[in-house]
Amino acid sequence: MKIKNKVRGWLLDGQYGQPKGLVGRWLGQRMVRQHIPETDWTISLLNLAAQDQVLELGFGAGRAIELVATRLSTGQVSGVDISRAMVRAAAHRNARTIKSGKVLLKQEDLTHLSFNSDKFDKVFTIQTLYFWPDLQMALAEIYRVLKPGGCLVITLSTGTIDGTGLTHYQQLIDQKVLPVMRHLGFTEAYTREGPLSRQFKTTAVIGIK
Ligand SMILES: C[S@@+](CC[C@H](N)C(=O)[O-])C[C@H]1O[C@@H](n2cnc3c(N)ncnc32)[C@H](O)[C@@H]1O
Repeated sequence: MKIKNKVRGWLLDGQYGQPKGLVGRWLGQRMVRQHIPETDWTISLLNLAAQDQVLELGFGAGRAIELVATRLSTGQVSGVDISRAMVRAAAHRNARTIKSGKVLLKQEDLTHLSFNSDKFDKVFTIQTLYFWPDLQMALAEIYRVLKPGGCLVITLSTGTIDGTGLTHYQQLIDQKVLPVMRHLGFTEAYTREGPLSRQFKTTAVIGIK
């Protein structure tokens, strides 16, 4: 059992933050299944309109991109992910809508977005905050690309059901994420509690530019 756990740890070490190769692609598909409750909830929080310009940061294997695309008619959903393996997996999943121009996927770092300022009505990200290289830079980039009045949703796990794990992420939200958002100029910045996902509590940080 111990050896099995060691091999598993060795194989997955660093993979959640930047999935690579075959193991990364397998993990991407596993995360699609594991993150169904928070993904569906996050999309419901976006109050999507058919003409919205939407951006997802760290899309993994691309299920949320696929779901958002079905809700848009004239709108477009763009996504960035730092992992080449995830861009390939998500591109495979969304091949039809990429071809039609409704979906645009890029391999890039969310702290250096190549999009114009004031472009997006909605920006969202699911289970990525743990890996952001620089919180301030990431939030500043998101603020830049959001239209005035645009909405940001950051969804993450902030605790375990038994109360023993991940509580530091709630502190990070209260002590850093929300204050930085207010400092950047978000007119609203608050949290909502979401569904349990596996053994984890889910929280969304919501901001309005
Ligand atoms: C735990 S996975 C979550 C994937 C997906 N959102 C989901 O819920 O299944 C984290 C994702 O964020 C991406 N990521 C991590 N750091 C990033 C960065 N600096 N810029 C863009 N994407 C990043 C990873 O490559 C990975 O696909």
